[in-house]
Amino acid sequence: MKKDILTLVDLAASDFDHLFSRAGELKHRRKQGISDPCLAGRTVGLIFEKASTRTRISFEAAAAQLGGTSLFISSADTQLARQEPIADTARVLERYLDALVLRTFSQEMQAEFARIASIPVINALTDTYHPCQVLSDLMTVIEFKGGYSGIRVAWVGDGNNMAQSWINAAAVLGFELILACPEGYMPEAAIVERARSWAGNKIRVVHDPAEAVENADVVNTDVWASMGQESEEETRRSVFAPFQVNRDLMTRTAKDAIVMHCLPAHKGEEITEEVFESGQSVVWDQAENKMHMHKAILEMLIIGQA
Ligand code: CP
Ligand code: NVA
Repeated sequence: MKKDILTLVDLAASDFDHLFSRAGELKHRRKQGISDPCLAGRTVGLIFEKASTRTRISFEAAAAQLGGTSLFISSADTQLARQEPIADTARVLERYLDALVLRTFSQEMQAEFARIASIPVINALTDTYHPCQVLSDLMTVIEFKGGYSGIRVAWVGDGNNMAQSWINAAAVLGFELILACPEGYMPEAAIVERARSWAGNKIRVVHDPAEAVENADVVNTDVWASMGQESEEETRRSVFAPFQVNRDLMTRTAKDAIVMHCLPAHKGEEITEEVFESGQSVVWDQAENKMHMHKAILEMLIIGQA
């Protein structure tokens, strides 16, 4: 049966562990100049409704490095933009492609593609989740901290798509996650409730950034206004001002804590330039690992576990 990655609760802990180890192996092999052309003759389609630098290019590079072909299609240039039904689009694309990578506003749109198409559907960001990003972020955590068990992760800022994917990951893997979000900008209650029913008090949502980062091994933040929320930017800038990751906040973390940001960053807003450029920041390794993780994801979903 085909497998999709629409949310991280679609994966078992063993799937996460496979992806972490395979992505690490593929990273190592690339650095040794060894190629892995497991996608020879295969085609991956990317349909994006929103802008992207890293996700698009790392998925396209991943497919190319595995010997496959990728096709990037802005959704505005497809008949989807002229109301062709998803069900019809999916039944056509499954005949051309071996996997479909989607970046959309709605999570439900991706669920519908996945329900109808016989090929794997991979969520490359929705308003609700960004699962592939958190997979590669956790790969980075493992590289720097030696594993995910026993670690304490802090999230500071909006209860957005990234925050909700971290909640799902913590629910499946059981690491400690404390989120500090302003009132009115919390993660969806149903997502938090499901996670707490699986992982209990290991997952907490508070309103004080200092409480969230206390003894944290990993500090995560993201933009205050996500794609699609441009009209709220001004209001959000004042609501989120106390939620900046700065040197003062970082004095509360565990020693050797790392700072993560999925990028793009708005330096001077959610994170200071000083912290972003500090030795604790692992943002470039995070960005690199997206490509290695995307290779492992494409291989797992198209070919099966290596
Ligand atoms: N982190 C991330 O998803 O970046 P892009 O929007 O550039 O793809
Ligand atoms: N929360 C951000 C993530 C960008 C990669 C957004 O959705 O715009």
